[in-house]
Amino acid sequence: MPLVSTKEMFQKAYEGKYAIGAFNVNNMEIIQGIVQAAQETKSPLILQVSAGARKYANSIYLKKLVEAALLDAPELDIALHLDHGDTFELCKAVIDDGFTSVMIDGSHLPFEENIALTKQVVDYAHAKGVTVEGELGRLAGVEDAVNVSAEDATYTDPDQAKEFVDRTGVDSLAIAIGTSHGAYKFTGEPKLDIDRLKRIQQLLPGFPIVLHGASSVIPEFVEMNNQYGGEIPGARGVPEELIREATKWGVCKVNIDSDIRLAMTGVIRKAFHDDPGNFDPRKYLGPARTAVYEMVKHKIENVVGSAGKL
Ligand code: G3H
Ligand code: 13P
Ligand code: ZN
Repeated sequence: MPLVSTKEMFQKAYEGKYAIGAFNVNNMEIIQGIVQAAQETKSPLILQVSAGARKYANSIYLKKLVEAALLDAPELDIALHLDHGDTFELCKAVIDDGFTSVMIDGSHLPFEENIALTKQVVDYAHAKGVTVEGELGRLAGVEDAVNVSAEDATYTDPDQAKEFVDRTGVDSLAIAIGTSHGAYKFTGEPKLDIDRLKRIQQLLPGFPIVLHGASSVIPEFVEMNNQYGGEIPGARGVPEELIREATKWGVCKVNIDSDIRLAMTGVIRKAFHDDPGNFDPRKYLGPARTAVYEMVKHKIENVVGSAGKL
């Protein structure tokens, strides 16, 4: 099966009030764990690659690993997506390379400049049948390419969201309603501005919304990291019930990276602790892959709700 577009995936998800998990991939074990979870749950899947992932793994290796997943799991619907593309050139490069979806993240730009850049990507992508995710509003948090402090974060204005979608022709929109990237999302009570999401949905009926920074920062893995030599005190994510609630109001894509990182690292730390004589990478990357598989299966079945939606 070739890679699929996100267009039909989102349409079905919107109508069915569930979301598709978009999981960040950086190596073979991550891809295998995620794909196995999607296979067993009969779930559609978005695998996403950031600029940092391309730099780390070399884009050719990642593309070929995803092609291997297609051969290994021909029954699956898999979309390959660029996460946080920051330039037209990067979006064009991955479109030319066969990605079926791209994000152009102009959220740091003034409104008119964000529109102009996004529109440029939309024009190129649509001519090739590729879907485009834009972003309006700014999430706090840290990733390889972007570092936004809490003071610089701003929630998405619903009227601007409508104007942005109308003028750019994007296929989906990432919004800021209280999530953030990384493992430190909340200091106080976790909260999402669901009323703002509802207003955006009212203004853009039928239009797929994307939630970045949607990891739950699963306490079991935070504790495992801290117990076996890690230092990530106070890490806190988005409670699962808030993600489930968001999927009822137009959120069709839920981005998850930090939970993968925490699961793998926790399990690897434990493996080193339990067997200090272990220096066979298969004996710690194997359990890490299993942890990714179990965690993603849980997300698909209990958080985004895409199990059985193939
Ligand atoms: O939102 C960002 C993703 O977690 C990717 O992070 O840029 O460090 O690969 P990265
Ligand atoms: P998390 O840091 O919450 O996993 O968010 C990932 C993300 O938004 C990727 O674009
Ligand atoms: Zn993101």
